Amino acid sequence: MTRKPIVAGNWKLNKTPAEARQFIIALKNKVAGIDTRAEILVCPPHVALDAVVDAARDTKIAVGSQNTFWEESGAFTGETSTGMLESLGVTHTLIGHSERRALFGETDDMVARKLRKVLESNLTPLVCVGETLEEREGELTEQVITRQVTAALEGTAHEHAGRLVLAYEPVWAIGTGRTASPEMANDVHTLIRRILRGIFGDSAAEGIRILYGGSVKPDNASTLMAESDIDGVLVGGASLDPGSFAEIIRAAP
Ligand code: PGA
Repeated sequence: MTRKPIVAGNWKLNKTPAEARQFIIALKNKVAGIDTRAEILVCPPHVALDAVVDAARDTKIAVGSQNTFWEESGAFTGETSTGMLESLGVTHTLIGHSERRALFGETDDMVARKLRKVLESNLTPLVCVGETLEEREGELTEQVITRQVTAALEGTAHEHAGRLVLAYEPVWAIGTGRTASPEMANDVHTLIRRILRGIFGDSAAEGIRILYGGSVKPDNASTLMAESDIDGVLVGGASLDPGSFAEIIRAAP
């Protein structure tokens, strides 16, 4: 089965609505000249979602949020629900990014609750997992990834497997300029697919896209995406510039 690659940008806490709109206008022009079968996704901060959906209308560029919540409404100050995101035209959402886990106390259980809620909506979830440097050096990568993936998918109905996207983002490679080598990354992707096979069966697991993230740049994107189990990339820093993000889109197989 050939899985369609995804090139996703995670802008984190960057860009005002006006800056975001400018970015989309610039990216649109660059993408028009690229013949790619990759899905293109940008994940702006919540305040810029509306502007980005509007600017990206009638283009190949899909829009995702960086976070969402497991309840639809109520006394949850500061949260944004899946229904609210959908009402803006948002189609994807990140769940469990390592910065959410490390800085905002998101646990495996919270990630699982968010995922179940997202799968009840029409949004496509991108569930992020990854080990820290300490865990890698302690040879705990397999154990940590297995725990994170299994916990996140707890209670996920098999019929939803086809909508899942996972992202392997080793924490030590995020924003550090230190990328996992393509082989090293692919080993973890293969492990993740093995876990998915165990949960959903061979054929469903074959269809699930697993992205790599962590210091992806125009010069390493194509070798990463050439690996058998790497089905696209989740890009932080290099997604903030339309030129470098377009180069990464061009590198997709
Ligand atoms: P980076 O971030 O590309 O800046 O390393 C990736 C991410 O956190 O999604």
